[in-house]
Amino acid sequence: MPKHVLVLNGPNLNMLGIREPKTYGSQTLGDIEAMCKAEGKRLKLSVECRQTNREGELVEWIQGAYGKVDGIVINPAGYSHTSVAIRDAISAVAIPTIEVHLSNIHAREEFRHFSYVSAVAVGVICGLGAAGYRLALEALAERLGD
Ligand code: DQA
Repeated sequence: MPKHVLVLNGPNLNMLGIREPKTYGSQTLGDIEAMCKAEGKRLKLSVECRQTNREGELVEWIQGAYGKVDGIVINPAGYSHTSVAIRDAISAVAIPTIEVHLSNIHAREEFRHFSYVSAVAVGVICGLGAAGYRLALEALAERLGD
């Protein structure tokens, strides 16, 4: 059975391609999800991608992953900097989770420097654009083994 990985994207990431391309790149969320699927195939992972603008939905998806999902890649977007609830959900399910940001949040406004999620993630990738998702999947595949 291939390992199952959930790729979760938070609010406003459905606007990629239109949204501040200088900061977030010109790829759409569809492009990034297609890349994640292709990378999943290469790494023999089963990859499922979801996006929502709602915090509670992210919490429910993380809770629902318990016992079903082997790893999570998450870009919590704006909720990174505000959501104790998403952090608690990741802690609760204890599924290895990698946090990804397209932009380098440390080189931006101060309010983006802190992420509630980082301390409960196994690792954080930021500032590498869409490649961050690919690298996160590679790291999870290595961590999860066959
Ligand atoms: C982001 C960075 C966040 O600060 C911002 O709110 C986002 C996207 C990123 O991918 O660079 O929506 O998570």
